[in-house]
Amino acid sequence: MEQHTSLYMLLCLLNTVIYSGHAQIDASLSISPDRSQFFEYESVSLSCEVQRSSTGWRVMRNTLKGGTEECPTDWGFLKGSSCTISAVPSDSGVYWCESGSGEHSNAVNITVHDGAVILESPAIPVTEGYFVTLRCIYEDKKTKKTSSNFRADFQNDGSLIMTNTTGEMTIPAVSKSDEGLYKCNSTEGESPETWMTVTGEQYSAHTFFR
Ligand SMILES: *[C@@H]1O[C@H](CO)[C@@H](O)[C@H](O)[C@H]1NC(C)=O
Ligand SMILES: *[C@@H]1O[C@H](CO)[C@@H](O)[C@H](O)[C@H]1NC(C)=O
Ligand SMILES: *[C@@H]1O[C@H](CO)[C@@H](O)[C@H](O)[C@H]1NC(C)=O
Repeated sequence: MEQHTSLYMLLCLLNTVIYSGHAQIDASLSISPDRSQFFEYESVSLSCEVQRSSTGWRVMRNTLKGGTEECPTDWGFLKGSSCTISAVPSDSGVYWCESGSGEHSNAVNITVHDGAVILESPAIPVTEGYFVTLRCIYEDKKTKKTSSNFRADFQNDGSLIMTNTTGEMTIPAVSKSDEGLYKCNSTEGESPETWMTVTGEQYSAHTFFR
């Protein structure tokens, strides 16, 4: 009888471990606009998308200036359920969602640039085989109008890899070898660098048991 009780307790414990393991991938950080580089004073909204009903998810960040901080206590203001900032360079850092019980979502690196050119690239890891567009964006500091239809050079890990007159670089089927640091430049300036992560084909129960 004693043994049955402890086995039951062990199963309960395992169940809890597995269940909370699931919860970690049930939340994701969403960013609007959906990219990882921003111009200074751009309005950026971050929110937690939670699959399972769960309370107490907050957007967290770690920056060089402030260390680990929570929204809206330490930074940003709430607009609906989104944390909003008027971005400045010191907002650059890593952002994620965290629940009251310490579960984490994916994390995203954000760079705020006070120059005239940024690179638009996927904010979250891209899956092998997918179509990816990198875009060089220019902002006119006076009018705040943005454009990307201009001649731009793209660099990967410090080497020039292509030039396009439309400000875009497309990768029809991204592969692991495309992972790395990217930046772009035009006559107006150079963007910061962003790391693009490429993950293997997403495994599901199907591929797992095949
Ligand atoms: C964020 O950037 C740093 C430095 O480039 C890198 O070490 C880290 O892995 C990145 N984190 C994510 C979640 O992309
Ligand atoms: C150059 O830009 C055009 C349109 O934006 C795009 O269709 C084309 O794929 C780009 N070229 C390369 C090599 O990425
Ligand atoms: C990008 O920068 C390099 C090095 O400064 C420069 O030679 C090149 O002309 C620039 N590209 C464009 C499209 O302006």
